[in-house]
Amino acid sequence: MAARHVITGLLIIVCPISVYGESVKMPPKASLLWTADQQRMVKSGDVSRGKELAERCSHCHGENGIGVEPEVPNLAGQLAAYTYKQLQHYKAKGPRNHNPMRRRVSRLSDQDMADVSAWYASLEPAAPDLSQPSVPEEIAKLVKTGDQKRGLIACAACHGERGEGGPIDTPAIGGQKLEYFITTMQLFSQFERARDVYNSMCNLTTRLKDEELRGLASYYARLGGGKLATK
Ligand code: HEC
Ligand code: HEC
Repeated sequence: MAARHVITGLLIIVCPISVYGESVKMPPKASLLWTADQQRMVKSGDVSRGKELAERCSHCHGENGIGVEPEVPNLAGQLAAYTYKQLQHYKAKGPRNHNPMRRRVSRLSDQDMADVSAWYASLEPAAPDLSQPSVPEEIAKLVKTGDQKRGLIACAACHGERGEGGPIDTPAIGGQKLEYFITTMQLFSQFERARDVYNSMCNLTTRLKDEELRGLASYYARLGGGKLATK
């Protein structure tokens, strides 16, 4: 009797994997679901305490929140809610998998994360990077109107007209590092970075061609950081 239960249990665990096989991508782990308490904590994050905590981040993310290497994202001027959510994603391991970041956040409490997020939100976002090539009209069209045929919603509809970020935790992307931008979009398209609750970035990136992805990265690097949508 007991043995039969064990076998049934094993089948339940193994079946979904063998049925879906490797050809079907499983959605990544669910992302943080906000509670009212967390939102309140992030809104009242302590900037000066956050500044102290961020000293241990600055050899990579810079004193002023501008990443020192191409693959290190800029955090300056980012919406605090978005930064907080990503720190939780690294800590939980799975929604975002990155060992160096996980080590840095593993001992941060929720309050520490709220404070450090408030500090980065208070900094001046990156200036336009005009060393990046200007982009063809079709790229600007993707940003402003999307592409109905492919079911692509305009980037600006969620990320704001100037890439300044949008509702709740939709990140500012204006002025983001080109290399980081491309890598992270690829992670979304391979379903290796957590979706937001609606899965929007994963679905969207799988429909973009490589050259469009590069063009979009260039567009936003050249744009520079816009004004914050919300504090
Ligand atoms: C050793 C270098 C290094 C250190 C130190 C470091 N980071 Fe990072 N951080 C990175 C890299 C590289 C990435 C991009 C990882 C990825 O692709 O997911 C990143 C990503 C992030 C992101 C995601 C940004 C986005 O736009 O999604 C946040 C937020 C962040 N780091 C905050 C911090 C904080 C806060 C600290 C200090 C407690 C810290 N980091 C320390 C290298 C570092
Ligand atoms: C339906 C809303 C929506 C649309 C449309 C959308 N995004 Fe996003 N985007 C999001 C959300 C929400 C996130 C944050 C996901 C998370 O929590 O990891 C995000 C994250 C990103 C990131 C990661 C930022 C970082 O710092 O790591 C980039 C880059 C990005 N989007 C670019 C784009 C581009 C380019 C387009 C247009 C082709 C686009 N997005 C369209 C909602 C959207």
